[in-house]
Amino acid sequence: MDMNSHSLIAAIKELVGDANVMDAPSDMEPYLIDWRKRHSGKAACVVFPRTTEQVSKVLAFCNENAVKVFPQGGNTSVCGGSVPDHDGQSVLLNMRKMNRIIELNPRNNSMAVEAGCVLADIQAAALEVDRLFPLTLGAEGSCQIGGNIATNAGGTNVLRFGNTRDLILGIEVVLADGRIWNGLRSLRKNNSGYDLKNLFVGSEGTLGVVTAATLKLFPRPHAIATAMLGVETVSAAVDEGLKLQAAFPGELVGLELISQSEFDISLRHAENARNPFQTTPNWTILVELAAATGTSESLAGRLSEALNDSFNHGVVQDAVIALNEQQRADLWSIRHHVTEANGREGMGLTHDIAVPTYRIPDFVELAGRALAEHYPAAVPVVVGHMGDGNLHYIAMFSHAYWASVEDKAGVQLKLSHLLYDIAAGMGGTFSAEHGIGSLHVSEMSVYKDAAEIALMREFKQLLDPKDTMNPGRVLPKVAAAVSGH
Ligand code: FAD
Ligand code: LAC
Ligand code: ZN
Repeated sequence: MDMNSHSLIAAIKELVGDANVMDAPSDMEPYLIDWRKRHSGKAACVVFPRTTEQVSKVLAFCNENAVKVFPQGGNTSVCGGSVPDHDGQSVLLNMRKMNRIIELNPRNNSMAVEAGCVLADIQAAALEVDRLFPLTLGAEGSCQIGGNIATNAGGTNVLRFGNTRDLILGIEVVLADGRIWNGLRSLRKNNSGYDLKNLFVGSEGTLGVVTAATLKLFPRPHAIATAMLGVETVSAAVDEGLKLQAAFPGELVGLELISQSEFDISLRHAENARNPFQTTPNWTILVELAAATGTSESLAGRLSEALNDSFNHGVVQDAVIALNEQQRADLWSIRHHVTEANGREGMGLTHDIAVPTYRIPDFVELAGRALAEHYPAAVPVVVGHMGDGNLHYIAMFSHAYWASVEDKAGVQLKLSHLLYDIAAGMGGTFSAEHGIGSLHVSEMSVYKDAAEIALMREFKQLLDPKDTMNPGRVLPKVAAAVSGH
């Protein structure tokens, strides 16, 4: 049944109350464009449910009436996953009003939260009871745990603590037809049947809406050491990373890589940023160690000792070790501001590839050559989670040059595939941690196995046969999904 916007809005208001529905175009505007202002869409209204029951009612109603529902968390998706399509007849379901901590249980090292809780608030709540919720990413001040779960977000602590998937003990989900699955368990072991929880983690809102989750907490580390190391080549960076992994088992939390170009862009645009080096190195490794006991000073001392050998052999050419919390924050600020700074610098075509870690130098070499040959106007800008083999390889064009490009979508597609082919040739992926959203749907049929896509489609058909949940995201249209490779 087709429903006009007017009766749709009236019906939704009836279900959740006028105060939880927004339909004035000017009010809706910020929700209809993503954080980077690259993707926009339209909706009949934005709904802000306050309870799981309200989510259930909205989804049941929309499903019954074939109305599309686009779930939204903090709207920080970098692949067009967080805004609706252009149809304008759909419901944008924003989760920000479901932001309660349901239970904080340090004795079980767990915390149950509603899906709209902002990640930084969850981190802070854990610290208050001397625990750590380790998921950490540049968008943590805005992104919500529901969005993190929906995208299986990675971030800068994956090396030690895993992806979001590894940090979830239980979830509550509302299915497309409004049924509620309360899987909010707080167990570390539970082999009673299929692992449905992990089907929803990373499903990007296409199978249902995550309304709550039980998170794993860890002891709060009492010693932290953070350093930036300057090296000449990517190969040296990867080798040094391996050495640090061997030297600090269980203590090495993060291992990030930043190219000279990215480092300088971040310094240029971030407020109050200061170069900790006298000259920006070709490649910078950002290292973080954390230990349950001891002091930050002694951990920093151990790190300094471990670096001695590489320093003496000229492998590590420069090193800055943070001596206090402010210096530590300053080093991370350079890293965490890259997305914002890149947006100011020019038009950066960002890629989120992963390769086996030992192939990172080959990838950077081949990608650099391909870019120089086919897109000489682009500056290669590289930042990423080296310890996970995950690089954000960015082809940076000046705003002026990009404005002169006629077929922008065509250039974006061809350039991306050039890089994805290189990653795929190394057993890598075109999407490591950001997800598929709407931006990478076409890559699914090129780079994923056809049988794998067919199986995903069967799950989708089972859970959302009317395709009302986040349609057009993740799965390619049936006709396009004919061949894998
Ligand atoms: P949104 O962007 O609002 O939505 C993302 C997807 O999840 C959409 O498909 C949406 O429909 C779906 N969704 C949201 N909430 C729900 C829900 N409750 N139930 C079902 N579906 C839902 N990502 C990383 O992995 N690692 C990084 O290091 C990283 N750094 C970033 C740094 C910056 C500055 C920015 C802007 C983004 C970064 N991202 C990173 C990408 C982004 O922050 C993550 O994908 C994040 O997990 C998205 O959370 P969100 O709440 O903003 O979700
Ligand atoms: C980062 C985001 C872009 O790592 O994933 O900064
Ligand atoms: Zn990242």
